[in-house]
Amino acid sequence: MGQFDGQVAVITGAGGGIGRAEALLFAQEGARVVVNDLGGARDGQGSSDAPAEQVAAEIRELGGEAVANFDTVATREGAEAIVAKAVSSFGRIDVLVNNAGILRDKTLLKMTDEMWQLVIDVHLRGTFLCTQAAARQMVSQRDGGRIVNTTSVSGMLGNFGQTNYSAAKAGIYGVTRTTAIELQKHRITVNAIAPIAKTRMTEDLPMFDGVDTLGPAHIAPAALYLGSDLCEDRTGHVLAVSGSRMYAFKVVESAGKFKEGADPWTATEIAENWDAIIKI
Ligand code: NAI
Repeated sequence: MGQFDGQVAVITGAGGGIGRAEALLFAQEGARVVVNDLGGARDGQGSSDAPAEQVAAEIRELGGEAVANFDTVATREGAEAIVAKAVSSFGRIDVLVNNAGILRDKTLLKMTDEMWQLVIDVHLRGTFLCTQAAARQMVSQRDGGRIVNTTSVSGMLGNFGQTNYSAAKAGIYGVTRTTAIELQKHRITVNAIAPIAKTRMTEDLPMFDGVDTLGPAHIAPAALYLGSDLCEDRTGHVLAVSGSRMYAFKVVESAGKFKEGADPWTATEIAENWDAIIKI
């Protein structure tokens, strides 16, 4: 028995990297998988059916069930076609993993409108559109469901040269938190992973030089956990993974400080009380 016997999982951007590892692991656990990938370059240019076809073929060769889909997550038509592919091929959708992504890194002072918009469109808009299409189908099935988003350390903490990407990934955190609240009554959990792994997206970073312990295979089990019934009713969490380290990101609120009386704080008082205000 696998974790996903009888279930259908859609994994976006599954033609390579982390998405491919997730697709293989979900299939190994019995899921029928829609392997979505536009098949473009790391910066989002171009398209090809080959990456999604190859991963779907790899799954079938290993005895699993998979179909390929090549639509973009970044348009409403594309997102709806991805979910429609799950329904036409396998009759339903139980799990959506929003994983597709691109990079257009530049510092703030040099970033163009195009670099900003493309990254926001694929990551943030893509996550919104695919989540909405999948959630509508899940709600109509009346059987619950699981959505796993992909945020990033860059979105949670910020990173040099990634204003567009960190904004998109922080936005995905917001989408995760709010949709977790809204979809709870439909028994749909929504969580996110924040991975660190050597893929084509990150292979030129010095931290990955000569390192082979930080691969996509270390990330996939986190998505599998959040996409499976092992996750129970846990929702709205960010599970971070880097090699053998499994941890969590949380937004914390300080206890704060109350001012005596009804007058608003003055800026000078804020300055004088700064340490007490922000103390956790
Ligand atoms: P990758 O470049 O190997 O995989 C991304 C995949 O998404 C590619 O196969 C690409 O063709 C596909 N894709 C891009 N635009 C698409 C679109 N519009 N529609 C459908 N598919 C599209 O990179 P990697 O590292 O596997 O990234 C997977 C996810 O993990 C991304 O969301 C990325 O931002 C995130 N991530 C990765 C980290 C890492 O250390 N590798 C760190 C933090 C987050």
